[in-house]
Amino acid sequence: MFSFRKEIFQEQDTLVVGLFDDDEHTKVAKEVDERLNGFVTEGISDGDIHTEYGTVSKILPMALCETKRLYFIGLGKRDKLDETLFRKAFGRLFKRLQRDHIKKVSIAFDSVVPANVSEEKCASLIAESMGMATYQLAHFKKNTRALPYIDALCIVTKREDDLLPLLAHGYALSKGVNIARHLVHSPSNVLTAEAMAEFARELALMHEFSIDVLEKEQMEELGMGALLAVNQGSEEPPAMIVIKYQGLKEWKDITAFVGKGVTYDTGGYSIKPKTGMPGMKGDMGGAAAVLGAMETIGRVKPKANILAVIPCTDNMISGAAFKPDDVITSLSGRTIEVLNTDAEGRLALADAVTYAKQLGASRIIDVATLTGGIVTALGSWMTGAMTNDKELYQKIEKLGAQMGEPIWQMPYNYDYRAQVKKSDIADLNNSPTRKAHPIMGGAFIGEFAEDTPWVHLDIAGTSMAETAHDLGPKGPTGVMARTLAGFAIQD
Ligand code: BES
Ligand code: MN
Ligand code: ZN
Repeated sequence: MFSFRKEIFQEQDTLVVGLFDDDEHTKVAKEVDERLNGFVTEGISDGDIHTEYGTVSKILPMALCETKRLYFIGLGKRDKLDETLFRKAFGRLFKRLQRDHIKKVSIAFDSVVPANVSEEKCASLIAESMGMATYQLAHFKKNTRALPYIDALCIVTKREDDLLPLLAHGYALSKGVNIARHLVHSPSNVLTAEAMAEFARELALMHEFSIDVLEKEQMEELGMGALLAVNQGSEEPPAMIVIKYQGLKEWKDITAFVGKGVTYDTGGYSIKPKTGMPGMKGDMGGAAAVLGAMETIGRVKPKANILAVIPCTDNMISGAAFKPDDVITSLSGRTIEVLNTDAEGRLALADAVTYAKQLGASRIIDVATLTGGIVTALGSWMTGAMTNDKELYQKIEKLGAQMGEPIWQMPYNYDYRAQVKKSDIADLNNSPTRKAHPIMGGAFIGEFAEDTPWVHLDIAGTSMAETAHDLGPKGPTGVMARTLAGFAIQD
């Protein structure tokens, strides 16, 4: 997949050259321009080649050099290009190359490095954006018209040392994202809780993780009454997936990733309106992000201990289903008055968070398509967050920003905490009012995290893209797979 060479021009090659919108060309761009007798400078002044950020210009140099086709990627001002812009620009480039059916491509690496991003980072970002941008979702159509994938990327550079591990690193990040996308895309009649568990088992086998999947009987024995309540109306048995990755000598200092795995959310007896239901196959976006992160972790093998805890079930209606007014007992022993069966994610997560603690989690990051309210508040541009630990939160926020997965912190103070504890009959209630409901969702989960450092990420708005974008197709984004993986890697 990845290779290196030093000579810029090569017989039959497709070469990408970066152009900055600055007064002077980079050394490499100059070299290309000279070899083509000023063709680049002329092209720019004629408007055939662009240097503005995000533009892609294709030129056939014909007899001017042995390279068959040249793509110029406009990168704007060299000192303005940050990691996020770099990734997006390359996503756009790779999408164009894929649309043009290019399967082998060379990049004049030294021409694309911005002022404030390291060469190492650029290599990683190139592979990451290639994997993310060219990914195509599987479908169930008879006639498939998938575009070919780029299968050979050559980095043309004067550098002596090896960038290969960095390319592999970036590519591993994209693989995690694509796994998350695939899972979110899969319909719930195919991707049941058991199918999720099977997928996780295969992933674990591939990367030599240890895995344990709790079945319904075990949940009953342990007393996971909150998760079981959500599953009560279903024909599909629930699954609690537990994966361990040990990257440190000893099994301590454990980061738990907890992902909401509601394979379908009808709302239960607090049923969703018919327009609110389509799309709810994606209510396992948190679980998908966690499994995606595990894919990346399996490839990169960082020095960290990771525990993935994924409660899986659908939320259905039947004569057996749980109802508003029911009182259930969670794994923690605390009782919950159910006021809304559509606030099911927090119930499943409550038991998962308690279980993560029982298994020794030192810190917990939960990821969930938890509330429609977060979509109202932040749209599809930022993931909403809550935390009981400033330091942990700041690490995650920074990583999210670097990954192009921006995170916004919601408040979490005494008043909000008090609301989820209001009940005449139980310790907690699962849905205080419509007021501040994204915060109530987080606050409910926070009750189970207790004193363990915890960050809650509500991806209801960010897990789906309404349109195709530079780094992927319309639909599932695989959001937070990279931020979680990044957390494991930096730690
Ligand atoms: N899965 C939904 C949240 C959701 C909404 C995800 C839209 C993606 C897109 C969640 O289980 C839910 O139904 N939340 C309720 C909470 C309410 C009952 C307190 C909501 O947001 O309306
Ligand atoms: Mn719901
Ligand atoms: Zn839900």
